[in-house]
Formats: sequence, structure tokens, C-alpha cells
Amino acid sequence: MVVIARLLLPAGRDPLAERFELREGGLEITQAELLGLVSGAAALVVDPSIPVDGELLDAAGDGLRVVANFAVGHDNIDLAACAERGVVATNTPGVLTEATAELALALTLAAARRMSDAERDLRDGRWTGWDPSAYRGLEVRGATVGVIGLGRIGRRYAELVRGMGADVVYTARSRKADADRELGARMMELSELLEASDVVSLHAPSSPETHRMIGAAELELIGPRGVFVNTSRGPLVDEDAVGAALESGALGAAGLDVYEKEPEVSSRLLQAPRATLLPHIGSATVTARDGMARTAAENVIAVLEGRDPPNRIA
Ligand code: 8YV
Repeated sequence: MVVIARLLLPAGRDPLAERFELREGGLEITQAELLGLVSGAAALVVDPSIPVDGELLDAAGDGLRVVANFAVGHDNIDLAACAERGVVATNTPGVLTEATAELALALTLAAARRMSDAERDLRDGRWTGWDPSAYRGLEVRGATVGVIGLGRIGRRYAELVRGMGADVVYTARSRKADADRELGARMMELSELLEASDVVSLHAPSSPETHRMIGAAELELIGPRGVFVNTSRGPLVDEDAVGAALESGALGAAGLDVYEKEPEVSSRLLQAPRATLLPHIGSATVTARDGMARTAAENVIAVLEGRDPPNRIA
């Protein structure tokens, strides 16, 4: 039996339903209800809103063979707890690279051009005339764009902004010779990158090492004309500090898609000016979401049929 903790799109649900008995939790399921639903599962399909820990794995029981995440990020899954119990864990890399990189570009432009403030003013009837000093932002052409984490998504974002004429600098665990060669990119230490960049976009995974890597001091280095973008994970950033830096003018603008305690968002951030705030829609294109659903199903089918899954993470 396969348990879909919440909802899986038909591109993934249909191939599973053809082969296995399904149990589905739906979007409103609570963690307590899920503990009952998973009992007896051979496979479990989850998304980043579902914490997969020892308790949930034990509630599924000894027959559980695979946990398939409907996401590339897997900070919701305790990989050690999976490994201890001999449960395979998988994710959905690749299929959402373009969607997420394009959303990071959209947030870069939206924040750089103060689009949310401008649209809110128009909708609320505050657009009473044309003001040459209003909403003055930043052009990407000629800007230095700092990419924190040059993995698949960071690399694609770097290509997109390079295509618009930005200079690309990056932090990464190791130098990326192909990015240096093909994009004229330069690797830097984090503090050097923050100081050098007009735009900083986060593309690192959530881990104890990256926890709150961007706080008040880092935002100050990005500066009053700088733009900060996050499409990775909320815990990398001190959300209140972003709100405070926007309010004080220490930071130019922000474009955020992810938050520490989703779906909650810091009230300081909600009230701050020059911020575009989206509800975690990085992978929300038809192509990416269908690809994620298909990939999650392929991983489940492979494990249950005794094959190596294409995207094993534990
Ligand atoms: C979400 C994501 O999984 O892949 C990731 O890591 O954060 C997103 O693709 C998606 O929005 C569904 O919750």
C-alpha cells in the first residue's frame, strides 16, 4: 500500500494507482491523523510541509520501504532515521530547476523595481500622478549579482542574470571552473560577496551550517541599494532582521518565496516596504509540478519493484 500524505498530482498519482492500493491524506491532514494513516504503508509520498521523523517512520511500521519527497529540498526528512530503519528516501531534482531559477529572476526584478509597493499604491488609489523620484530601483544590466550556492538552480539563475548583462560572483563549496569559464563568474568568500553585490540570491540547502546565515549584519553588507532574494529555504534567513532592515533603509529591497515557519510569515516582514513576498511557489509551473509528481512516483515504483530509485538521498 502506498500512502500519499497530502496530495499528488495525476502525473504521479495515476501510475501509482495503476499498480498499488493508495491511501491519501488530503491537504488538510494533521500530523496526528497522518500517524494513523501511514500504518502498514510500503511507501510514503510527502512534501516539505510534512516532517518525516522516527515517530512517523515507526507509525508506518516495518513494511515501509521508501519515503518519496515531492521536492528537491529535503530538510523535512530525517535521513539518519530513514537509514537506521533501512528505509530509502528520494527527492525530485532537475525537473524544477528552470521554474525555480525563473522565479528567483522574477523576484529579483520585482524587488529591484519596487513592483509590489507600486502595484499596491495603484490598487489602493494612491497613484495620483507621475513622480520622477518615485519607485526608483536597480537595473540588472551592469549589476553585480551574488549567487550563494551554485548548484543546479543557482547555476541556472546565474545564466539568466548573466544573459541580462550582470556580472556574476558566487560562493560554493568548491570552485566551479565551467561557471568561471562560461559565465565569467568569480568565486568569493561570503562577506566579500555580500559587500560586492548589488543583488544577492540564496540557493543553498537548509542545514545546521546554513541556519540563519543571513541576519542583520549580512543584510547591512548588501546595503541600502542592494536587493536580497530567497527561493531556497526560510531557516537560512532571519526574517525579522529582513523586515527591520527594510524598515530602517539598511536594505534596499527584498524578494522572498520561503519562510521559517510556513505558512506563517513574520509580521515585521509583512509590514515592511520594498518587499515582494510570495507563498512558496518556486516550482509552481505546470511542467515542474507534473515533473515532480512523475519523478516521485518513479522513485516509489522503482523501490517497490526492487530496483534502485533514480533519485536516492538515503
Ligand atoms: C516545494 C520546494 O516542494 O522542491 C523544493 O524543494 O521547495 C518546492 O518545489 C513545492 O512547492 C511543493 O511543496
